[in-house]
Amino acid sequence: MSSTVRTAIVTGAARGIGAAVAKRLAQDGLQVAVLDLDADACADTVSAIEAAGGKALAVGANVADEESVAAAVEKVATELGEPTVLINNAGITRDNLLFKMTVDEWDSVMAVHLRGAFLMSRATQKYMVDNKFGRIVNLSSTSAQGNRGQVNYSAAKAGIQGFTKTLSIELGKFGVTANAIAPGFIETEMTAATAERVGVPFEDYKKAAAAQIPVARVGKPDDIAHTASFLASEGAGFVSGQVIYVAGGPKD
Ligand SMILES: NC(=O)c1ccc[n+]([C@@H]2O[C@H](COP(=O)([O-])OP(=O)(O)OC[C@H]3O[C@@H](n4cnc5c(N)ncnc54)[C@H](O)[C@@H]3O)[C@@H](O)[C@H]2O)c1
Repeated sequence: MSSTVRTAIVTGAARGIGAAVAKRLAQDGLQVAVLDLDADACADTVSAIEAAGGKALAVGANVADEESVAAAVEKVATELGEPTVLINNAGITRDNLLFKMTVDEWDSVMAVHLRGAFLMSRATQKYMVDNKFGRIVNLSSTSAQGNRGQVNYSAAKAGIQGFTKTLSIELGKFGVTANAIAPGFIETEMTAATAERVGVPFEDYKKAAAAQIPVARVGKPDDIAHTASFLASEGAGFVSGQVIYVAGGPKD
């Protein structure tokens, strides 16, 4: 094991799964760039990391915007360290049935998940290649297998799986791995918003979801952080191009 202090970027890290992953990577000894649309919204995640003795930097950026991504990655490289771990976690939902879905709902989901993961990976890969070390972890979803009302999101999350496999093929010889985590139901503001949209109290919505899950509970952001920690670790260098379903059962 090397004692090099690595720098990670976690996108969408102001809250939810991204915040949990950022805190966990900091606990693992990495410096963490906490990236989200609004730098101020990253303050809670950054202070939690600093209070625990870690080092973090709040970065405001839109992952779907090429210039914003270039500026953000440059800021991380100069103010924190060369980023060699990237967690592409930023995401949105714009659910609707196909016949009602607008072009804007389709395009905005594609832009954040797919263009975002592409832009962030392209902007950081040179640091990984230079350092002959890199770990890219992309957030897919069980929705990649199809989910009513999410034709845009499920297409994006299935796309993330192909994107991940190709990254692993292109970057492997430079010491860079790429893997995807496909979470099932995780309790966050995203799933709370879905419950609200379908008009079910969140507690009832979680109970109904848990009844369908073999481990008989819904997931927590820390369940995903634990898997991301493994995939980002030095020791996981022979695991690449994989999609790990973290869904409390064999949902793939
Ligand atoms: N919660 C679940 O059950 C679940 C299941 C499967 C996959 N996921 C995926 O996990 C990831 C995190 O989900 P979550 O539940 O924590 O969501 P969340 O809505 O709680 O958090 C997402 C974060 O991403 C940020 N974000 C959105 N667009 C952005 C952009 N263009 N640039 C930068 N940041 C942006 C938001 O501001 C927010 O802080 C997403 O990719 C989501 O699709 C979640």
